[in-house]
Amino acid sequence: MSPKPLITAEDIDTKLAEMGRRITEDYAGKDVLLVGVLRGAFMVMADLARHIDLPCEFDFMAVSSYGASTQTSGVVRILKDLDEEIAGRHVVIVEDIIDSGLTLNYLIKSLKVRKPASLEVAALLLKEGVQRVPLDVKYWAFAIGPEFVVGYGLDYAGRYRNLPYVGVMEP
Ligand code: IMP
Ligand code: MG
Repeated sequence: MSPKPLITAEDIDTKLAEMGRRITEDYAGKDVLLVGVLRGAFMVMADLARHIDLPCEFDFMAVSSYGASTQTSGVVRILKDLDEEIAGRHVVIVEDIIDSGLTLNYLIKSLKVRKPASLEVAALLLKEGVQRVPLDVKYWAFAIGPEFVVGYGLDYAGRYRNLPYVGVMEP
């Protein structure tokens, strides 16, 4: 059974174009380093980047996620660190979804100590009212409820990442 569509491919494209324009304006005259959080953020990263009209470099980090469960463990492990040095650079972390915020909170802390010139977050989805830590997310495209979503990079037990839209798993 296919997940029930929640956000269409067209709506995603419209919002990412808008986000890309904002980033282009906000960082005018600067170079940016986009840091994608693997694996879920690969689609957002690819599509958002095409709407950013600036000198841009790319790097990726991999962190442990939920495994096959839909509950956050609160435990974050870095599986792959950045290849690039970020000191003095304008870094934008690109995330698929912010749920409890624990993953991002940990990432922000571990990147801040490396002294980037600036550090912001661009996320496709923000689950409303469930963050367990205060977070300052400058760019986000859609606020959603607490439901578990898949598609457009997001998985359930490794599957559904290839869906071009964001959908809800039905029981
Ligand atoms: P957090 O640490 O609770 O904010 O969760 C962050 C990570 O959990 C995200 O980057 C996703 O990989 C995963 N995640 C959280 N909510 C969902 C969801 O609804 N569907 C798929 N993955 C999710
Ligand atoms: Mg993720």
